[in-house]
Amino acid sequence: MLETDYLSNMVHYYNEARLPQKPGDAAGFFNDVQRDPNHWAHEMVQDLRAFVSGRRVLEVACGMGRWTQFAAETAGFVLATDAAPNLLANAEGLRLPRDRVRFRCVNAFDIGSLKDEFVCAMHLNFFNHLPAPAAARFLSVLHARLGPGGRVFAAGQQYSANWKQQMYTRDGSPDTFSMRREDGFNFELVDNEFDESRVRQCLAGAATNLQVKIGRAFWWATYTVSPAS
Ligand SMILES: C[S@@+](CC[C@H](N)C(=O)[O-])C[C@H]1O[C@@H](n2cnc3c(N)ncnc32)[C@H](O)[C@@H]1O
Repeated sequence: MLETDYLSNMVHYYNEARLPQKPGDAAGFFNDVQRDPNHWAHEMVQDLRAFVSGRRVLEVACGMGRWTQFAAETAGFVLATDAAPNLLANAEGLRLPRDRVRFRCVNAFDIGSLKDEFVCAMHLNFFNHLPAPAAARFLSVLHARLGPGGRVFAAGQQYSANWKQQMYTRDGSPDTFSMRREDGFNFELVDNEFDESRVRQCLAGAATNLQVKIGRAFWWATYTVSPAS
């Protein structure tokens, strides 16, 4: 499949499949984390809150705002963007404070056209769904948007042993895939696994102050966009 077809089909899949009926659906996840001191997300959320504290943040591929709501607790302002309008409409149901959080439909590859000023960006569970060439292109777009000195919080899934049984590779491709069959879809989604060395390899030459953590369900990385990027 052509990269451009994959990227638009991925938006279509996320916009249409597994849509919850209830606006603000991600609030359930927020409450689960708050209630359970042993929840797997605590360590990453703590780093995310500290990372965005007091800053103007561009979030890319925010979906239904699962992570936006944690960032909103400490950030100065979050512009949370996604290319799927149905997910953004659901995120609006979180009723996050409108003076500090806005949701907007923007394609991740078009963030260069945003007029707003940002000193940092966050993206979670998006990069791992991009084919390797698109992932490299996304990093170029993101780094150009922020400029040297911009700060990035990036995260992706750590796939469970169970899920890994469904994942497969294809000859001639560096990517890993799985089939998504919900709601009448037969969509082959890229599900790339990252360990610390693969994260470092992707960011080689583009990042300084790079820190990578591997948690139970997610890996996450923070870095500064380097002048050479
Ligand atoms: C796995 S979901 C993650 C959503 C959210 N970050 C989270 O962790 O809950 C991937 C998201 O990427 C969004 N997406 C896919 N392609 C995109 C694109 N080209 N530009 C912006 N968002 C995109 C989808 O609409 C979806 O919300």
